[in-house]
Amino acid sequence: MLPSDLDSSRIPRHVAVVMDGNGRWARRRGLKRTQGHEAGEDALFEAVEGALELGVGYLTVYAFSTENWRRPLDEVRFLMNFNESILLRRRQELHERGVRIRFSGRRGGRVPARVLRRMEESEELTRKNRKMTLIIALNYGGRAELVDAARSIAQEAAAGRLDPDKVDEKTLARHLYLPDVPDPDLLVRTSGEYRLSNYLLWQLAYAELYFTDVLWPDFRREHLYEAVKTYQTRDRRFGGLNDA
Ligand code: IPE
Ligand code: IPE
Ligand code: MG
Repeated sequence: MLPSDLDSSRIPRHVAVVMDGNGRWARRRGLKRTQGHEAGEDALFEAVEGALELGVGYLTVYAFSTENWRRPLDEVRFLMNFNESILLRRRQELHERGVRIRFSGRRGGRVPARVLRRMEESEELTRKNRKMTLIIALNYGGRAELVDAARSIAQEAAAGRLDPDKVDEKTLARHLYLPDVPDPDLLVRTSGEYRLSNYLLWQLAYAELYFTDVLWPDFRREHLYEAVKTYQTRDRRFGGLNDA
């Protein structure tokens, strides 16, 4: 059921979310940071349900950045285990809702093999679902993604399969982690932080930005509706003019 004040013809096709503020939510309650992450699970599924109700095609959520390895080992371990546990406990439910699960980010590195396996299984299980795509950015960094793209372009050029003079924006976009996914129309970041934190640097070039003070564990589908409502008031120009 779409909230009546939303224009169903102007729903963003792709919404990207920075799920931030778990630690502060926990601290305010005298809890451990990890309990804040746990409380974020309900918020994630609220966002998924809200996006399904709105008819959003792609929802990308930032679960773990390439910079998050800087956190204390205990928290890093917790987050890896917790992501795995969410996949194990809830992928079936997402599957039944028609959600395709995909991942964006560096697959190797310090991500435990066990977690990588769950990721692949979840992608395989939900591969044919078409209602919505949930993209989990895990071990994701925008700069790492651009470096990986540059490396793969350089390799193709070195192999003589690509003319360096012909490299253009489309070439680069084709070498990103998920080349078939359209750029986000709307970026939502919670917890009152006004930065990108290395999220989707290429893809967010023309996204509308929406910031809210709500801490991630308090996020509910109504907050998503509010973000989309604001999005619908924006005049997207892409460098051109709309009023001609
Ligand atoms: C977001 O919450 C979750 C991750 C980054 C994994 P934080 O853990 O960043 O919470 P704050 O920003 O410290 O409150
Ligand atoms: C961004 O949040 C990463 C995720 C939400 C996974 P951070 O909390 O890590 O960002 P900074 O460190 O405040 O920029
Ligand atoms: Mg944070």
